[in-house]
Amino acid sequence: MTSDTSGKAPATGYFTEDNSVEVVNARIGGNVDARLATVLACLVKHLHTFAQEIELTQEEWELGIGFLTRTGQICTRERQEFILLSDTLGLSMLVDAINNRRPNGATENTVLGPFHVEGAPVRAMGERITLDGKGDSCLFLGRVLDLDGNPVEGARIDVWSDNADGYYDVQQPNIQPKWNNRGVFVTGPDGHYSFIGIKPVSYPIPDDGPVGKMLDQLGRHPYRPAHMHYIVQAQGYQKLVTHTFVGDDPYLDSDTVFGVKKTLVAPFEPAADGDILWRSDFDFVLARFE
Ligand code: BEZ
Ligand code: FE
Repeated sequence: MTSDTSGKAPATGYFTEDNSVEVVNARIGGNVDARLATVLACLVKHLHTFAQEIELTQEEWELGIGFLTRTGQICTRERQEFILLSDTLGLSMLVDAINNRRPNGATENTVLGPFHVEGAPVRAMGERITLDGKGDSCLFLGRVLDLDGNPVEGARIDVWSDNADGYYDVQQPNIQPKWNNRGVFVTGPDGHYSFIGIKPVSYPIPDDGPVGKMLDQLGRHPYRPAHMHYIVQAQGYQKLVTHTFVGDDPYLDSDTVFGVKKTLVAPFEPAADGDILWRSDFDFVLARFE
């Protein structure tokens, strides 16, 4: 470690309320990664502006540090409270939007969420993904298309949803069968897909930690409107991470993670076909890599 013993003030002067951003950012070394320097300098600028603008009190600063500490402490392999914080502050959706700008007509992205599990069973087209026998059966069907309306063959569609009680299988490992309401389907030359799941139900995000408390203090509910999750991938096309939403859901206009997009609200119509009570048609349109 070296220290300046010259007794001279640094080029930017000593730290004051008025020059804090310049003084802190002047310490970034000359040989550091350029993007890291840009990101951190901007973060410091906005953090300091934030503290100045609201005249952050010492108590509020301590409260914030305590909140972030508890957010970290509750994190496990299964529970990622920082992502939940990012989701509920709208940051996840903003980052998703910045990184997934697509041409008109391509299906829009939305938030991945914490409940996707790699390695779900590849199922035959039309197969049932619901293994616990609960809920209103729903036939999901449609096509995977390119922007010109041509079918995409070999598209891999990874789907997952909550069960009729509003929980994902991974939230109830001792109650629900493994891979309940999950499956992977691969399209043939006609681009069609179909599977039988349930008409999803709305559910609260995990709200027994600091993020749930924050929502409560802000007068916000923790609910997500009913949705089916999809990851659609095909060679030569941009990966699509999305949901379809049930249009008459009471939480459609107040999704706690801001994931709803108008184009992702899908039709859910009565089917009355044996035990299948609902039917939801939705085509996914993939954009090629630019
Ligand atoms: C989900 O839809 O699974 C989800 C998304 C963000 C936070 C919590 C859950
Ligand atoms: Fe979900």
